[in-house]
Amino acid sequence: MGMFSARTDWDFQPNELTSLLAAKRLRGDEILDLTESNPTRCGFDYQPQYTLEALSTRRSLVYEPHPKGILSARAAVAEYYSRQGIALDPDHIILTAGTSEAYGFLLRLLCNGRDSVALVKPGYPLLDYLCQINDVIPRHVRLSYHGGWHLDLQALNVELAARAKAVVLVHPNNPTGSYTEQNERENIVASASSAGAAILSDEVFHPFPMDGAHPAAPSFATNNRCLTFTINGISKLLGLPQLKLGWIVVSGPSREVEGAISRLEMISDLFLSVGTPVQQALPLLLQDPAGLTLQIGTRIRRNRAYLATSSGKTSAVELLGGEGGWYAVLRLPRIRTDEEWAHVLLKEWNVLVHPGSLFDFEEESIVVMSLIQKEEIFERGIVRILSAFDV
Ligand SMILES: Cc1ncc(COP(=O)(O)O)c(C=O)c1O
Repeated sequence: MGMFSARTDWDFQPNELTSLLAAKRLRGDEILDLTESNPTRCGFDYQPQYTLEALSTRRSLVYEPHPKGILSARAAVAEYYSRQGIALDPDHIILTAGTSEAYGFLLRLLCNGRDSVALVKPGYPLLDYLCQINDVIPRHVRLSYHGGWHLDLQALNVELAARAKAVVLVHPNNPTGSYTEQNERENIVASASSAGAAILSDEVFHPFPMDGAHPAAPSFATNNRCLTFTINGISKLLGLPQLKLGWIVVSGPSREVEGAISRLEMISDLFLSVGTPVQQALPLLLQDPAGLTLQIGTRIRRNRAYLATSSGKTSAVELLGGEGGWYAVLRLPRIRTDEEWAHVLLKEWNVLVHPGSLFDFEEESIVVMSLIQKEEIFERGIVRILSAFDV
C-alpha cells in the first residue's frame, strides 16, 4: 500500500501451520508445544521473594537518567564478567531495553541505508527483520553440518570485501547451538580488522553450555583486535525477558571504542528506554539468588540427554550436534519436507515443532525444538514424534 514504507511490506497471512494450530486450540485439543521458549511459562522457580523484592527499592522513585544506564547497574554487569575472569570498565557498557534494542542501536551506529552486514544462516529469524527496519541489507553466510557446524569463512570474506559493515555472530548460534570456535574466531577477527568491519557477538545463550561445566569458547568481550560489540541481557541468563534489560559491551582499539561509545550514548539519550526499577534491581538480580541460570541449564541438559537417548534408538532420525543454547535440531527422513513434517506432527500427533525453514536451513527435513519446555511435556512430545517411526 502506497501510504506505508516499503520496509514494512510484510506478509501478514497466517501460514498453514499457524492456522491448523489455531483450529486445534479452538477445538480444545491438548497440544504438546515443543516450540515453547518463553521461560516464564516453563515452571521455573522464580522465588518472588528475591526477584520482586529486588524491584521494590525506594531508589526507583527517583528519576536520574543516564544515557549509558545507572552506574551501579553497569558496575554489576562488569562484576558479572569479572566472575568469568574478564575485566571491564563500566564506562564501556551501555544498557538497553533488551537485546533487540541493542541490535537496533548498533545497526544505526554502523550502517547507512543500503549498507550490508553479514548474518549467519541457519540463524535467528528476527535478525533479518531488524536489518530490514533499519534499511540494512542482510547478507547470509552459511553454517553447514559435517559432524559439527562449520562457518563458510570464504563466503564471509567475500561479504567483507564487498564492504559489509559488520559480522553478526550469535555465540552459540540459535538454533544450531554452535559456539564460534577458536580457529573460526581467529579467522573472523583477522578478516574483520583488515576490512575495517565491526563484530557483533550476541551471547544470550553463552551461559548455557551443553556439557555443563564451561562454555565451549570464550566471550568476545575480551576481543580488542577490532571494534567489537558483545550483546547480552537477563532475558535468557535469568529467564526474565519481561524485565527488558540488555547490555552492549564495547571493546577494541581505544580510539574506535571511544568514538563508538560517544555515539551510542547519544543514540541511547534519544530514547532513555531502560526503566529505573530494573536498573536498580540489577546488582541483586545478577547475583541470581534463585539460581535461575542453573535451573534453566539443568533443564536443557536433561531434555537434550533424553532426546539423545531416545532418538538414538532409531536410525530414522538424527540429533545434530549442539554445544549450547536452548534448542535442538533434529533431522527427519527426507520423505517429507520440514514444513510437511511440522504439519503432520501437529495434525496427527498434536505435537508442535518449528520447521527448519523458519531458520533458513537449506536441508529440507530439519525440525527445531526448544529444550526449556517442562520435562514432562517435552518427554511426551518426543515419545509421540518417535512413535511416528515405530520407536
Ligand atoms: C539470538 C537471540 N538474541 C536475543 C534474543 C532475546 O532478545 P531480548 O533480550 O530482546 O529478549 C533471543 C531470543 O530468542 C535470541 O534468540
